[in-house]
Amino acid sequence: MQVPTIRGVSFMKLHLDAKHRDTDGDFFTEESLLSHLNIEKVKKVNAGANNNNVYKCKSTIDPNQRYSYRRSKIPNFTYNGDNNIKLLPDDDEERDMMKATIENWDQASNLEISPKVIFNGYVKGTDKKNPNQIVLYHTIVSDGYDNDLYNLYSKSTVEDKDFITHLDVEISKRLIRLFERMHDEMKIVCFDVKPGNTVIKMKGGEIEDLRLIDFDGDWCRHKPILELEDKINRECIKTLSILLMANHFISKTPVKKNIFIDYFTNKDGKVKDEIIELKEPMRDLFCHRDNKTYEYCYIASIYFDEAIDYKQCAYSCSDIFDEVFETMTTRTHSNDGDETWRNVSSVKSSKPRSKSKSKSKSKSKSKQKTSKRKRSMKSIFNWLRRKQTEKNRNQEKK
Ligand SMILES: Nc1ncnc2c1ncn2[C@@H]1O[C@H](COP(=O)(O)OP(=O)(O)O)[C@@H](O)[C@H]1O
Ligand SMILES: [Mg+2]
Repeated sequence: MQVPTIRGVSFMKLHLDAKHRDTDGDFFTEESLLSHLNIEKVKKVNAGANNNNVYKCKSTIDPNQRYSYRRSKIPNFTYNGDNNIKLLPDDDEERDMMKATIENWDQASNLEISPKVIFNGYVKGTDKKNPNQIVLYHTIVSDGYDNDLYNLYSKSTVEDKDFITHLDVEISKRLIRLFERMHDEMKIVCFDVKPGNTVIKMKGGEIEDLRLIDFDGDWCRHKPILELEDKINRECIKTLSILLMANHFISKTPVKKNIFIDYFTNKDGKVKDEIIELKEPMRDLFCHRDNKTYEYCYIASIYFDEAIDYKQCAYSCSDIFDEVFETMTTRTHSNDGDETWRNVSSVKSSKPRSKSKSKSKSKSKSKQKTSKRKRSMKSIFNWLRRKQTEKNRNQEKK
């Protein structure tokens, strides 16, 4: 029998196969999946402009066993029977992204880089915009952790806001180890690494476990460069992941701590020689444009520069890199000796601006930028894709 495919990729690789359906061979509904897994919802986790609806859940058999149920907000396929499953939008880029999403989550779970995933497939539902249409939503059910690091680093839960504690050091070490394994074993780079995409389990005041989440293929991408035995490249990619995470901790978490300070600087406050050696090759990677966009620069400019137009990376990438590089040297604690301990909130403005942007330009665009920044990464990405397709079409017409 011929294996059905979606734009040339088999159902199996996209997890549309029988293994990911109920005993009658139908796709699960949200209700039937939860009942099949003996799980019940406890509470909705996230609100606002996210790509996914996430619920805290517990086992109906063992109430101490917690889970996380995460379903995409936007449908991934229309479903009109097995001979008529269509990707949304139905193009090769979306197909590759969906395939990467499925593969990334499977691998991350097997390698214990993400929480253990017990379901990675689709649930059947109706389309909000078109209630007569049956659609499939990508769904992840995984082991439930206590908290994400964004929440953990909110003012109310952090005991010592101005000092690097034993817990901070332990978290930073574990994060670095997870980045190394994600790059070396999964051969992917996740550009959207941030405290909100890291989950933690605590036991008796100590870390029991720490894992990364949000492995969707839109921002977690296979990088052939990681297949090469090139030590410098690998060090650069690792350091860039730490750099992005550090910038989030410093300018986006409520407590604004640089938990990676000892990775980047010596006790005398100077940037370590080995980091300085990586600076220029890191800049090259940061400003490299792949066929889609300047990935590092683009993501950094959205989060730390309030920018939205990826074209800005073409003329100010180097400035944006210098700013995120400088931010990561922000000190949360003093040098050795008797210098005063510094309160990080007074160290640096949380949102570095590009030096090459004129004031009037950034002012006139600021309203538009803020509203766009509130959109989720996926919608920004799709918006860019639509713009590019429009542009191509117009060029073809010409
Ligand atoms: N396994 C999990 N354990 C605990 N919390 C989780 C888990 N998975 C997700 N969350 C919570 O849900 C939030 C959103 O999940 P995420 O996978 O990052 O989706 P999104 O793409 O919408 O950002 C996380 O920031 C975290 O608070
Ligand atoms: Mg997330």
